[in-house]
Amino acid sequence: MQDYRNILAEILIDEKTLQKRVAELGAQISRDYTGQDLLLICILRGGMIFLVDLMRQITVPHQIDFMAISSYGSGARQSEGDVRLTLDLQTNIHDKNVLLVEDIIDSGHTLSYVLDFLSTRQPRSLRVCTLLDKKERREVDIPIHYCGFVIPNKFVFGYGLDLDEYYRNLPFVGVVNLDKYRPQA
Ligand code: IMP
Ligand code: MG
Repeated sequence: MQDYRNILAEILIDEKTLQKRVAELGAQISRDYTGQDLLLICILRGGMIFLVDLMRQITVPHQIDFMAISSYGSGARQSEGDVRLTLDLQTNIHDKNVLLVEDIIDSGHTLSYVLDFLSTRQPRSLRVCTLLDKKERREVDIPIHYCGFVIPNKFVFGYGLDLDEYYRNLPFVGVVNLDKYRPQA
C-alpha cells in the first residue's frame, strides 16, 4: 500500500482542531444528558476512532455498543446502493437514550437505514452525532443533533475513515489525491 504522503492532497482538519472539536462535542453531550442514562452506538468501522476519543470527553455515565453495515462498493467508489446490517447490537435498546456515533454522512442512505431499523426497537430517544457532514451530497434528509464539521464534497481519509481499509490510524482528516491514489486490485 502506498505511503499516505504520496496520496494526500491536503490536510483538511488537523489533529489539534479535531481534538478541540471532539472535546466541545463531549461537553455538549454531557450537558444534554445530565442525569440520564446514555448508550453510544458506534457504526463500525469508520466511527471507531471518533467514538473512543468522544467517550473520554463525556462525563455522564454511559454504555457503548457496536453495529456494522455494509453497502455495495468500497472506498472512493462507494455508491449509495444497497445497505445491509452485518453486525447487530448486543444491547437491548428498548427505552434507552441512544446516541449514534458516525464518522461521516454523505448521501445519508446509510444513516437513514440505521435510524429506521433502530426506531423499530423503540428506544426512549434516538440522536445522531457525526464527526463530518458532506452536506451538499445529501439525498435523504437526516436529523443531525451533533456535528463536528461540515466539509466540502471531497473524498477524505484518516481519523477512522479508510481508503480500501487503510489509513484509519492517521490523526488528521486528509483529502485524497485521486490522480495519485492506486486502489487495491
Ligand atoms: P452515505 O450512506 O452516502 O451517507 O455514506 C456514508 C458512508 O460512506 C460513511 O459511513 C463512510 O463509510 C463512507 N464514506 C462517505 N464519504 C466518505 C469519504 O470521504 N471517505 C471515506 N468514507 C466515506
Ligand atoms: Mg461509516
